[in-house]
Amino acid sequence: MNEIKGLVFDLDGVITDTAERHYLAWKRIADRLGIAIDREWNERLKGISRTESLELILAEKPDCLLDAEEKEQLLKEKNAHYLELIAEITAADILPGISDLLEEAKSGGYRMAIASASKNAPLILERLGLSTVFDAVVDPETLTYNKPHPEIFERAAQALGLETQACIGFEDSLAGIEGIKRAGMPAVAIGIPVFAEWLPDIEVAATKDLKLEEIVRKVTMKERVEG
Ligand code: BG6
Ligand code: MG
Repeated sequence: MNEIKGLVFDLDGVITDTAERHYLAWKRIADRLGIAIDREWNERLKGISRTESLELILAEKPDCLLDAEEKEQLLKEKNAHYLELIAEITAADILPGISDLLEEAKSGGYRMAIASASKNAPLILERLGLSTVFDAVVDPETLTYNKPHPEIFERAAQALGLETQACIGFEDSLAGIEGIKRAGMPAVAIGIPVFAEWLPDIEVAATKDLKLEEIVRKVTMKERVEG
C-alpha cells in the first residue's frame, strides 16, 4: 500500500474560479462567429488546451472554415480578453476552503504540485499570492500530450519525486479525472455534474467540501480494500 505524500492540483476551477473567466472569454469569440455555446456545453472545454478548445468550438459550425492565420488571431483575442478578465484577481479569488486545505497540507508535510493546461498558470498563482506554496508547477509547453492523457499528472508526481500512486489528484474536469486515473493516481472530482468512463475515487460538490484528512483516509482505505 502506498502512503499518500503528495497532492496534485488542477488550477482553473480548483484553486480559483478562472474556469468561469475562460468560459466568458470563449463565449465572446463564439458569439462573434455565430456559434452558440452555454455553460453546459462549456464543460467539454474544461482542462482542454487553448488550441484544442478553439477547434471544438469551430467544429460546432462546419461551414466556418478559417485558415491558420485567422485561427491564430482568434487564439490571441481569446487570451487578450481572458487576461482582461483576470487582471483584477487577488488572493480574495481563491476558492472557498482552498487556503485552509493548502495550509493544512503544508503543515502535514505533503508535497504539492500544479498540473494545469494553462500557459497563464504562473501569472495567476502570482496574483493569488500562491507562487511559493507549490513545490512544482508543470509547464504545459513542455508536454507532448494534453489532458485527458496522463502525462501532465505523471510529470507532476515526478517533479515531486513521488510515484503517482503516492499522490492524490484534484480536478474539476472530465478530461482531468481521466488523466489522473490513467496516471494511476487516486482522483478527487470537484463539482463535475456527470461522469463518463473514468470515475473519481471521491466526489465533492464544491471546494469548500474538501476535507484533507478525510480524503487521505478514504483513499487509503479504498486502496487497502482494492489492493
Ligand atoms: C485549462 C482550462 O486549465 O487551461 C481550459 O481548464 C483552458 O479552459 C486551458 O483552455 C488553457 O489555458 P490558457 O490560459 O493557456 O489559455
Ligand atoms: Mg480545471
